Formats: sequence, C-alpha cells, structure tokens
Amino acid sequence: MSTLKMIALAGLVLPAAASAQDGPGLGEPLTAEQVAALDFVVMPDGSGLPDGSGDARTGAELYRQHCLACHGENGRDGVSDALAGGHGTIEGPVPEKTVGSYWPYATTVFDYIRRAMPYQEPGSLSEDEVYALTAYLLYLNEIVDEDQVLDRATLPAVRMPNRDNFVWAFEARQGR
Ligand code: HEC
Repeated sequence: MSTLKMIALAGLVLPAAASAQDGPGLGEPLTAEQVAALDFVVMPDGSGLPDGSGDARTGAELYRQHCLACHGENGRDGVSDALAGGHGTIEGPVPEKTVGSYWPYATTVFDYIRRAMPYQEPGSLSEDEVYALTAYLLYLNEIVDEDQVLDRATLPAVRMPNRDNFVWAFEARQGR
C-alpha cells in the first residue's frame, strides 16, 4: 500500500487548499539575516570560507568568554566534549577523539563552530571570532602557532594529524 493511501486511511490527509495561514499560527517567519546566519557550508577544501581572519591570541580571550564554561580550561576536563589532547590514542584500545586527535580537516572545525557553537547561542559569533577560536583550538592541539593568522587562504593549508586515516567515500566527486 502506498504511503499516501495509508495516511488517507488514517484520516490524516490535509485539504488540498491548506496553506500556512490555516496552520496553528505558531512561530514567526525568519528574517533574511537569520537565514543567512545558517545558510552556508564550508567544505573540506575550504570552499565557502568567508572573508575575515583571526589568531590564537585573540581566540584565547574569546574562548574564556564563550566556551570555557562547558569545554574546560585549555579544552580539557570540561562538562562537554574535550577539544584538545588525545593525540596518539586513536589507533589504541581507548581512542580519545578530540578536534586535535581525530578531526581530518581544519576547515570543517570552522564550519562546525560557526554553525553550532556556542551551544546556547549558535550564529552569534562574527567571522573574525570564528577564525580566532578555530586558531585557538588548533593552537591548544599544537597544530598552529599562537601568532599564525588563519583566513580563507591559510586555513585550508593546515594539515590535521589524523587526516590520512579518513577515506573519501565519493572518489568520483573529488575535486568538484
Ligand atoms: C553550554 C555549553 C557549551 C558551550 C558554551 C560551548 N559548547 Fe561546544 N559543545 C557543547 C556540547 C554539548 C557539544 C556536543 C554537541 C553534540 O555532540 O551535538 C559541543 C561540541 C563542540 C565541538 C565538537 C567536538 C567534537 O569533537 O565533536 C566543538 C569544536 C565545540 N563544541 C566548540 C565550541 C566553541 C569554540 C565554543 C565557544 C564559542 C563552544 N563550543 C561553546 C557545549 C558547549
């Protein structure tokens, strides 16, 4: 039986003319700015990275304000995921997966922070702040220096330690 038939039998089919105005009237339309704050993708190769820049020195202060409460001093021992450490544990019996030990690309760290953090207020950070926080997490993992400026050109060039332990599932699409 088709899904539609099952829905019809359950008496759940809406009249064809149903529109948003006939709905329960919950919520409110998003503004163009609110949509723009979430409508982006930064790919592993760095495409989609915005203008802006930041370094770990700036990121350290931002981390104290926006991240430390959940992720702990130096990205360790917080109530939420560890963001630093765990290097060399991935192939062992108890892998400690952190940004530094596990993530294959630095570019997608940027994407993730911009999209999802801080947990209680995603989308609230500026592009410069996200670059600086990305730099700070990479610095905590000894992947970049404190003064290294990350931007759309330098971030894709950062090589993550666990990079080669991931395989690209869609070989044919590579380079697209
Ligand atoms: C209110 C608590 C809270 C705050 C504040 C917070 N985070 Fe998180 N963070 C979380 C939680 C919970 C997760 C796990 C989310 C999940 O798995 O869906 C997480 C996951 C992450 C991850 C992914 C870790 C991994 O390896 O999967 C990163 C990176 C991260 N946060 C960075 C940040 C940064 C940078 C900030 C500051 C701008 C921040 N977080 C602020 C709670 C928080």
